[in-house]
Amino acid sequence: MSKNRTVFTCSFCGHQAPKWLGKCPDCDQWNTYYEEVQTKNRMFSLHAASTTENHPVPVHEISFNAEDTFVTGIDELDRVLGGGIVKGAVILIGGDPGIGKSTLVLQALTSLAQNGCKVLYVSGEESLRQIRIRAERLGSTSERLYILTETSLEQIINEIRNFQPSILVIDSVQTIYTSELESAPGSVSQIRETSARLINLAKSTETACFLIGHVTKEGAIAGPRVLEHMVDTVLYFEGDRGHSYRILRAVKNRFGSTDEIGVFEMETGGLAEVKNPSELFIAERPENSAGSTVVPSMEGTRPILVEIQALVAPTSLSMPRRTAIGVDYNRASVLVAVLEKKTGIKLYDQDIFLNIAGGIRLNEPGVDLGVITSIVSSRMDQPVAPLTAVCGEVGLTGEVRAVGQIASRIKEAERLGFSKCLIPKNNLKNTFNKGKIEVIGFRTIKDTIEYVFNQK
Ligand code: TYD
Ligand code: MG
Repeated sequence: MSKNRTVFTCSFCGHQAPKWLGKCPDCDQWNTYYEEVQTKNRMFSLHAASTTENHPVPVHEISFNAEDTFVTGIDELDRVLGGGIVKGAVILIGGDPGIGKSTLVLQALTSLAQNGCKVLYVSGEESLRQIRIRAERLGSTSERLYILTETSLEQIINEIRNFQPSILVIDSVQTIYTSELESAPGSVSQIRETSARLINLAKSTETACFLIGHVTKEGAIAGPRVLEHMVDTVLYFEGDRGHSYRILRAVKNRFGSTDEIGVFEMETGGLAEVKNPSELFIAERPENSAGSTVVPSMEGTRPILVEIQALVAPTSLSMPRRTAIGVDYNRASVLVAVLEKKTGIKLYDQDIFLNIAGGIRLNEPGVDLGVITSIVSSRMDQPVAPLTAVCGEVGLTGEVRAVGQIASRIKEAERLGFSKCLIPKNNLKNTFNKGKIEVIGFRTIKDTIEYVFNQK
């Protein structure tokens, strides 16, 4: 009997079956099975110190120092990471090719090296020369930054054991392979095996580790879903090809919140932090044109002003078109229905296109009222008064509901020179320092629209 047998593995979740299946019984994905040669089935323990015996310990006796966290000095990155990189943490960064993943980690490593950390950058994609050229371009030629170009897992592990870095980067998990498996680098079993061993190593030697991962067409990190469960933090680096700025978003973080985003701009000398994203997102706002509203939206703990644009035009189709870019399509449809029902404004014969200027995505209910005012503004061809910011959640009965962190939203609008902020009435009772900005509360969308479009 042959030693090697073939198995079929789901490329989405890693489930294995002896025969090809059209639909994965585990994750319900279609057409994700492909054939692999299985040599040995081994299990890895993800936990540290598998060589020594583990016993239960009281939680207060576990030692912990604040110095166990490395701060990169890149604020936008540190905030998304939850304050810095914890010793032994494994951070997975995913993103489209060319978005700037390698640039981001190289800059972070340089900064850490300058702070005295011993760092190692393992690249399976680029040659030493290419990395040197990039480092020159970024001005990051620190002598404590070490580069290794290698794709064999066994070699990499050897080098790590000898070199003992405190922070390690693997640029990209899809290029690393172990000779113990016969499948090609980048296949599910290779990614699962190599990542598990790297994670194991990171945990047992307390090395913080960044794993860079490619993403699939659908935007998920290529490789088995289990990869996301094995690591401590999953970050996605996103951006629009047409725009120079990039957004770093956490989708999982064992050491911090997943609401935070980091905003960067890709320049000729690398990624620059954008400390004032509001200015960036509303910079090109057309003054006094219909269909645009500025909304103070919350991204984690940080308020960001964004511009919501709407275009409402008579339709030539029997089914009017509804397009939403940057806001949830279903949510936008609900808002259109509420608007029609509660204010009597006819929209069934109109195409409606919604867009968040700058290409940012918002998943926050506080922008509802801004969507409403933009649609009405475009429909009536009447601009929202300049220097007015609008925020509030809208319910199905047309009521304007209170939103969280109203004080920071108003403060951000004031900081950027807005003179008026329209908010939910229920938020007015929250104590906050109103400052110079005029704050007006509304109970329903009807009141809001009457106020916004009849004041003159
Ligand atoms: P890179 O970090 O190689 O992307 P990834 O690792 O995610 O594939 O970034 C490559 C892109 O960034 C490339 O299109 C060139 C651009 N870039 C700059 O604009 N400025 C720079 O200083 C650097 C290093 C790259
Ligand atoms: Mg790269």
